[in-house]
Amino acid sequence: MISRITSYDQYKTAYERSLYDADNFWAEVAAGYHWRKMWDRVHSGGFEKVDYKWFEGARLNITVNCLDRHLESFADKTAIIWEPNDPDEAGRRLSYRELHREVCKFSNVLKQLGVTKGDTVCIYMPMIPELAVAMLACARVGAIHSIVFGGFSAQSLSGRIQDAECKLLITADGFYRGDKAVHLKNMADEALQDCPSIKNVIIYRRSNAEISIMAGRDLFWDQLMASASDQHEAEIMDAEDPLFILYTSGSTGKPKGVVHTTAGYMVYVGYTFLNVFQYREHEVYWCTADIGWITGHSYVVYGPLLNGATTLMYEGIPAYPDWSRWWKIISKYSVDIFYTAPTAIRSFQAQGEEHLQGADLSSLRLLGSVGEPINEEAWEWYHRQIGKEHCPIVDTWWQTETGGILITSLGGVTPAKPSFATLPFPGIEPVIVDTNGVLQNDLVAEGNLCIRRSWPGQARTVYKDHDRFIKTYFTTYRGMYFTGDGCRRDDDGFYRITGRVDDVIKVSGHRIGTAEVESAINEHPDVVESAVVPIPHEIKGEAIIAFVICRGENEATDQARAMQQLEHEVIQTVSKTVGPIAKPEKVYMVSGLPKTRSGKIMRRILRKIAEGHPDQTGDISTLLNPEIVDEIKRMVAASMPAK
Ligand code: WT7
Repeated sequence: MISRITSYDQYKTAYERSLYDADNFWAEVAAGYHWRKMWDRVHSGGFEKVDYKWFEGARLNITVNCLDRHLESFADKTAIIWEPNDPDEAGRRLSYRELHREVCKFSNVLKQLGVTKGDTVCIYMPMIPELAVAMLACARVGAIHSIVFGGFSAQSLSGRIQDAECKLLITADGFYRGDKAVHLKNMADEALQDCPSIKNVIIYRRSNAEISIMAGRDLFWDQLMASASDQHEAEIMDAEDPLFILYTSGSTGKPKGVVHTTAGYMVYVGYTFLNVFQYREHEVYWCTADIGWITGHSYVVYGPLLNGATTLMYEGIPAYPDWSRWWKIISKYSVDIFYTAPTAIRSFQAQGEEHLQGADLSSLRLLGSVGEPINEEAWEWYHRQIGKEHCPIVDTWWQTETGGILITSLGGVTPAKPSFATLPFPGIEPVIVDTNGVLQNDLVAEGNLCIRRSWPGQARTVYKDHDRFIKTYFTTYRGMYFTGDGCRRDDDGFYRITGRVDDVIKVSGHRIGTAEVESAINEHPDVVESAVVPIPHEIKGEAIIAFVICRGENEATDQARAMQQLEHEVIQTVSKTVGPIAKPEKVYMVSGLPKTRSGKIMRRILRKIAEGHPDQTGDISTLLNPEIVDEIKRMVAASMPAK
């Protein structure tokens, strides 16, 4: 079994050892897993050549560690509790034995369809147990899963399928988010119009919505499963074989297909889950993230299952049928550990405490936060109203690229501090640099956050584009992984993450690239150019503001209406191209954008104005078109609520 750190002193010892005796440290952690063949080398390579590897030479299958390994000791323990969107529909429980059986059967289905080791499979599904079954079956047969969040548009789905050249798509007819029907299969059909790599589509019937079927291509989950054998020998993988691709947004270009490999990811995610949440055998753990994000991959599915935990999956949204739903779920299943995002906490806070009445939250032992900085007020509310002042809160900082949690307290074991992620996890060596890359060695420091050495769960590459991987993360500061986040270290040595320092926006914890939104806006036929910037938002953390130059003159009388119409269309275009989560909060139609003499858009200036600090734009005299700044200031001021 994987080992647990149980005191602050033990953490300090483990942390020190993880740095000066790293190979032995990780070898001991890894010994807690099941290997078909042990590794030849714990770790090799590094950030200079970006060729780091972990547990090279080892052979294993991650699903043997998630499932088969637990069958001896607790086959009947619940692996997944599933709570449907509709509170009147019956929930489901899958024991480790049942989950293993489903995964074996679906592995045989995949095999039968010709899916083999190294193939890429796209999964576009609602939050139902079959999503976990599908991903685990991919891992079991050695196929690389690429899960696309159900809230992404057909176009986003299509781009991801094309980039990864997926052979198979696994989806559902549709599902309900609250009282809103989501037509997944229709979106998939639209996406597949230009995805020649897809040979088959497997459809799980969830909503019984009417769908169109393409004969020969489309197959039904239940029919395939009906005749599948439940015996399946897991494909044995090399340590560094890819496990999955997950697309994420950066400051430039299209989303990147971040690649995680098998052994290092498994060791890291399993070990962090156990230690950060201090999971104990009988506990029910609920992480509210969608499996379509890294949090769902690592801490709804892989991390909990590697530890034989009971993990809860909820299909719906927080406010359905009303704002008391989450708390009712916690009461219903006696949830011990609850892990969610600050944006959700702030929404609940805004709704008032009456929604908590009648819910029994006494089962809770530990709370977690992830996805964006948590402000002190939200932290305090979470601590008081949900944790009843006795549950430790772990503020976990990490990223899609890091595979697992890097900076955090260990629940109840190491100290916590509101709005601080606090201390690095064993094996993680964070450093703070200034914009020139100079290390800030004083205890109290502020700057950009980098990580100085590799850890097992680190992403290895961008799918089919290692150069982009190197360029994005390893060239800003030589020999270091650059996180894209700003941070501060206080006199306790605790880290506080202050937010992105690049062109990445965190809207309700969702990661959105400015370039992506701008290129979507520019698809509108009347748009000449656009720039988007984040502004602070009380609930969402950040919101997107767009500045758009349009072509064409309108009759003066109709101008206001025409603008309104255009604003609406621009928002719709983003929704359709990227997904509803990337919709701008507000669109300003401008006649120009502030640019440098070399033609670069000065987003910094737009951001200051949009934030309501028009006096902080700094020196604009060197701009190509300084006069535009006043126009934009006037326009934004006119639309701001009077103070
Ligand atoms: C970015 C990564 C990793 C889980 C989900 C997000 C921000 C994440 C925290 C935190 C402050 C945080 C950072 C990071 N972030 N957790 N506890 N405190 N900021 O993964 O979508 O890859 O986003 O989320 O800005 O770089 P992601």
